[in-house]
Amino acid sequence: MDLRRPLALAAAVLLAVTSTGCTGEEDGARGRPGAAGLSDPYFPQLGNGGYDVRHYALTLAYEPGTGRLTGTADITARATQALSAFNLDLTGLTVHSATVDGEPAAVRREGAEVTLRPGADLKSGDTFRTVIRYSGTPATITDAEGAREGWLRTADGAVALGEPTGSTAWFPGNHHPSDKAAYTVTVTVPKGLQAVSNGELTGHRTTGDRTTFTWRSAEPMASYLATLAIGRYETKTSRTPSGIPVHTAARGNPALLARIPELLAWAAENFGPYPFSSTGAIVDPGLDVGYALETQGRPFFGQGTFDASTLVHELAHQWYGNSVSPESWRDMWLNESFATYAEWLYAEDFGDKPVRKSFDEAFADDENWAFPPAEPPTAADISGPPVYGRGAMVLHRLRRAVGDDVFFRILRGWPAEHRHGNASTEDFITYVEKEADADLTDLWDTWLYGEDRPTDPSA
Ligand code: TRP
Ligand code: ZN
Repeated sequence: MDLRRPLALAAAVLLAVTSTGCTGEEDGARGRPGAAGLSDPYFPQLGNGGYDVRHYALTLAYEPGTGRLTGTADITARATQALSAFNLDLTGLTVHSATVDGEPAAVRREGAEVTLRPGADLKSGDTFRTVIRYSGTPATITDAEGAREGWLRTADGAVALGEPTGSTAWFPGNHHPSDKAAYTVTVTVPKGLQAVSNGELTGHRTTGDRTTFTWRSAEPMASYLATLAIGRYETKTSRTPSGIPVHTAARGNPALLARIPELLAWAAENFGPYPFSSTGAIVDPGLDVGYALETQGRPFFGQGTFDASTLVHELAHQWYGNSVSPESWRDMWLNESFATYAEWLYAEDFGDKPVRKSFDEAFADDENWAFPPAEPPTAADISGPPVYGRGAMVLHRLRRAVGDDVFFRILRGWPAEHRHGNASTEDFITYVEKEADADLTDLWDTWLYGEDRPTDPSA
């Protein structure tokens, strides 16, 4: 949504200086093309420079029989530089036409990059609307570590899962976690099927043999957290005791769904007020992707993943990852360490396994020592065991170093400090050292950045 991070700003200024060869010329500067990527350390082409999306209005129609998707993306964005052209990320599908502020825009396509050139340059600071019409059979993407994401067909529909790049398979946009936006997703499907997305259901209507569902997410969302599940689900709407709407979609009625309000209340005690205006879950045991995903407000659970510990993990992500989102894909450990630590806390509070035992098991597991959690060697490693297990160990060592009071204040304070924003590992270190009023260099060097397993687990 709003990306005013000092680093990004400095980079934008640098770019402006190098590409125009002059300084101090801001207003009235001639437009130049926005960057085709945001130089993410693992996915340099992901995202696009020169604008900041505020809102995606996606109007989609899907035919499960043929696998065909027809879409219109109506994107409201703000230009962060004078633009002669800008890019959108889109994998597969065909772009039929595009407009910018109602006027036709030239469309060029090169792989997963769509370049739009409006008739007139956009000025820096302008809010503009671009409407892209597209269709095709959305792709299933196999990511670097071999997991399937993107558009996944099921026996009676499809599920869209977007981490880290799968959201590019079903709508054009700025698909980097640093550009968060509000969403309105309107989906038309054959009557008898459900279509479930993030946020709240604001309307559904059946006309003839088609039903249209509209879902709205007012809080900023990173595109990898957007989801859509189409199929013969049993859907339910209820409320938590504190009044938060709960939307669930599942095959049958798994008993664990009923525990969402209780687990959300437990999470809120530990992590602070729940950051979104609705909750729920999508459970599809027919989809064997091998993982669950913290899709915003409504985590998705694939085959064999709907258990209490994983539910706690995905609910914890609503604070860590979804409300405070990674600045880049290098900061993944900030998502997974907290979500894993939440599982450890759950095992202690609801089971008979002390956090120290979870820590010891993680410490003993060689897989957790393949690389430092804050520096995955390749894109294939951003979801590797150290990001989860060793990331959670970092948090436990932090707890031992600063004491329970400060630690639990940090657990609540961190997502509050960056509510609905983005943050990096550096931001985390700065925040923690300020809250703890301590220099924790040794702790970071050993546990977060060190190559080797320390000989002493209490070091
Ligand atoms: N974030 C998911 C979880 O821990 C796991 C996951 C699925 C993932 N796909 C990914 C992590 C891609 C990183 C990249 O619940
Ligand atoms: Zn996770």
